[in-house]
Amino acid sequence: MAIQPIRLFGDPILASRAEEVDDFDKEIRKLVTDLTDTMLDAPGAGLAAPQIGVSLRVFTWAIDDEVGHLINPVLTLGAEEQDGDEGCLSIPGLIYNCKRAFHVVANGFTMHGEPVEIVGEELLARIFQHETDHLNGILFVDRLDKEMRKKALFDIKESEWFGLKEPEIRFSPHATGGLGF
Ligand code: NI
Repeated sequence: MAIQPIRLFGDPILASRAEEVDDFDKEIRKLVTDLTDTMLDAPGAGLAAPQIGVSLRVFTWAIDDEVGHLINPVLTLGAEEQDGDEGCLSIPGLIYNCKRAFHVVANGFTMHGEPVEIVGEELLARIFQHETDHLNGILFVDRLDKEMRKKALFDIKESEWFGLKEPEIRFSPHATGGLGF
């Protein structure tokens, strides 16, 4: 078990594009283990490497009894959309309705460097989109419509955790009602 602190909104790493993984070595396998342990501990339905301070294109997910990971993901989005509540472990306690594609085909690699394709719909598709956004420095509040985004940014600034100096800022209070990714 190697649970890592989760970075919060305001940390510059969450607004940066993460780097492609070139070497599928034991460091990457350790990163996948750390992400998985940290995600399950939160608990969250997904977690991207920048959220634990590593700017690499890696994320994990947990849905029902299935736990997985994807490296260097490339998503193909279906045309059909879904509405649904979404939260983020880096924005604790706040949940908003966020429009996403209903179907996603995700291509990428396993931690052993093997190519993999995963087809997801509904919540799994939402998680894939949320986590891939993290790898591009995009947070789900950036995906909200204008009015909702304004409200979200207001709520964030009113949050108890907002603006805490390190080390407190590094630790997520994890209150996302199971909808944190
Ligand atoms: Ni998130």
